Amino acid sequence: MQRYEGRVALVTGAASGIGRATAERLAREGARVLCADVQAAALAETVEAVRSRGAEAAACACDVGDESQVRAAVREAVQRYGGLHVLANIAGILRFKNTHEVSLDDWNRVLAINLTGTFLFCREAITHFLGHGGGAIVNVSSSAAIQAHAWTAAYTASKGGVLALSNELAIEYGRQGVRVNCVCPGGVKTPIHEEFAVPPGADATLVRRILPFGGFGRPEDVADAIAFLGSDDARFINGTMLRIDGGACS
Ligand SMILES: NC(=O)c1ccc[n+]([C@@H]2O[C@H](COP(=O)([O-])OP(=O)(O)OC[C@H]3O[C@@H](n4cnc5c(N)ncnc54)[C@H](O)[C@@H]3O)[C@@H](O)[C@H]2O)c1
Repeated sequence: MQRYEGRVALVTGAASGIGRATAERLAREGARVLCADVQAAALAETVEAVRSRGAEAAACACDVGDESQVRAAVREAVQRYGGLHVLANIAGILRFKNTHEVSLDDWNRVLAINLTGTFLFCREAITHFLGHGGGAIVNVSSSAAIQAHAWTAAYTASKGGVLALSNELAIEYGRQGVRVNCVCPGGVKTPIHEEFAVPPGADATLVRRILPFGGFGRPEDVADAIAFLGSDDARFINGTMLRIDGGACS
């Protein structure tokens, strides 16, 4: 299946986990993929993995919270590959702490990467899409946006924002050929779980609420859904939210 033949995709968070799996998946389906992340060495591994299978990808060092770097990343995709058709906003960070102990700096950092970074990339991509026949965006929210996860106030607020922003953009730009959809993964086995640290003395019943139902998912499980939503198979799907959690939030 070559749903992305002739397409250019930009994937953030592509150095690891869900972002890497998505870059590999889209490239396998024919996309030329610009892989954006702050981790240079790991990003190079993603690009190498794609190229070793005869597909095309390139690395782009980019902090998604930095407006000028985001603008430069979109420009690079267009200049290098002659266009941009699909954006997957996947970069994100997670912090666990009692909310009354969260510093303003920590709060701002999580919001800057998870929510503002998503906004900045959407804004730059949409600006391009509007002059070039439209495009598709898939944003990564979280099950935290729909079923409360304790000790993750900033993360949960950021992911709720990503979900709402995706709906808003879908309505605002849908008639101009821009589709914006959102996925809400549950527990997926990736390095982000190294941040999972229940505060000392915390209520164990709250821990059970955030454990995945029936085990962890794989990054590829989310990449498959992103590849679908970004493709023409989803041409009549706009402003939707897809839970990928093995039923945990049912
Ligand atoms: N793994 C899960 O259980 C799970 C569940 C729900 C949602 N998510 C979301 O999925 C997305 C991917 O997470 P993952 O699980 O693959 O984790 P991960 O830690 O493997 O990947 C996150 C990537 O984001 C990159 N990143 C962090 N800050 C960045 C910045 N400022 N600029 C550019 N890149 C940056 C990291 O370098 C890393 O490569 C995140 O948005 C996360 O919130 C993950």
